[in-house]
Amino acid sequence: EEIEKGGFDHFMLKEIHEQPKAISDTYRGRLSRDKAIIKMAGVEDNMKKFLNANRIIIVACGTSWHAGLVAEYIFEDLARIPVEVEYASEFRYRNPVIREDDVLIAISQSGETADTLAAIKLAKSKGAFVFGVCNVVGSSIARETDAGAYTHAGPEIGVASTKAFTTQITVLTLMALRLARAKGTINSSDFHRHLLELEMIPKKVEEALKSDAHIRIIADIYKDAPNCLYLGRGYNFPVALEGALKLKEISYIHAEGYPAAEMKHGPIALIDENMPIVVIATKKGHYEKVVSNIQEIKSRKGKIIGIVTEGDTQVRELADHIIEVPETLESLSPLLNTIPLQLLSYHIAVMLGKNVDQPRNLAKSVTVE
Ligand code: G6P
Repeated sequence: EEIEKGGFDHFMLKEIHEQPKAISDTYRGRLSRDKAIIKMAGVEDNMKKFLNANRIIIVACGTSWHAGLVAEYIFEDLARIPVEVEYASEFRYRNPVIREDDVLIAISQSGETADTLAAIKLAKSKGAFVFGVCNVVGSSIARETDAGAYTHAGPEIGVASTKAFTTQITVLTLMALRLARAKGTINSSDFHRHLLELEMIPKKVEEALKSDAHIRIIADIYKDAPNCLYLGRGYNFPVALEGALKLKEISYIHAEGYPAAEMKHGPIALIDENMPIVVIATKKGHYEKVVSNIQEIKSRKGKIIGIVTEGDTQVRELADHIIEVPETLESLSPLLNTIPLQLLSYHIAVMLGKNVDQPRNLAKSVTVE
């Protein structure tokens, strides 16, 4: 097992550090910047289904559901296809309206999650076209779906999902870009810029990983907090949810993710000098609005950990701590902003002496209801 960990203390840390390679493995062979094309067999073969889709329904559980939420932003923003994202467990039991011109995308690292598999079977029985985004080759979901695209993340051993999440987002981004191009909802210069930026993501993830020692210091300060809030807007709202989930899963600290603007409808009541609040405040997107959310937190004495773009000055002045990530397009920012959140929860859990790779009560793959 020590050899499998490749010199890292835990599988989770190894997998966090594998993300630059996992992301490039996922887009390699599918993206050609020279030719300005994206090719994904499962999408090409079923282009008509996607182009005629009334809407896309995404079903998943856990971290994969968060990747689905990010995909909702990307598909609607770039490809202008209406998207609904549902927990597979709710979808399968609520008598949902499913039509033949619906496309269902099921996202699953393991490809074995019982609720996701059941949601697929239900959608198929109603005549919808079902597309799978899985990591494990030949898994039940990969076999049960009409077509699909694998994330090439390699085996993920840590129960808390890391590289599966970022590679799922990579696949879904490629799909959205491919469909946007086919539909003409993105012009060629924007398309090209996305390809260029996507190719730079692995290097930028490496940059983001260099904050590790700095994040360890922040982890040490907040490791005994009983609660933690995560805030983000737009593309980074699901990243806030994922950050909170990571902390819960492995450190057992109660954490909640919220859209930053919703703070005033509840979570703001929790804020005092003992509450750490991780705010995703990278440039582009809703930066100024997030800055004003940060001011609201500061006036209530909350402890602010800002995830910011390199060179940021405004949040630096307000926050107790900042963690910098490289600049990228807003649509690709979840791929970078997730990294410090993974590291923060990892270090807190290690400092608290928790079993990082196999947290209590959780399973890597939930094959029963
Ligand atoms: C379990 C795992 C999570 C995972 C979820 C969905 O809860 O602990 O890490 O996100 O299942 O799993 P899947 O394999 O379908 O992505």
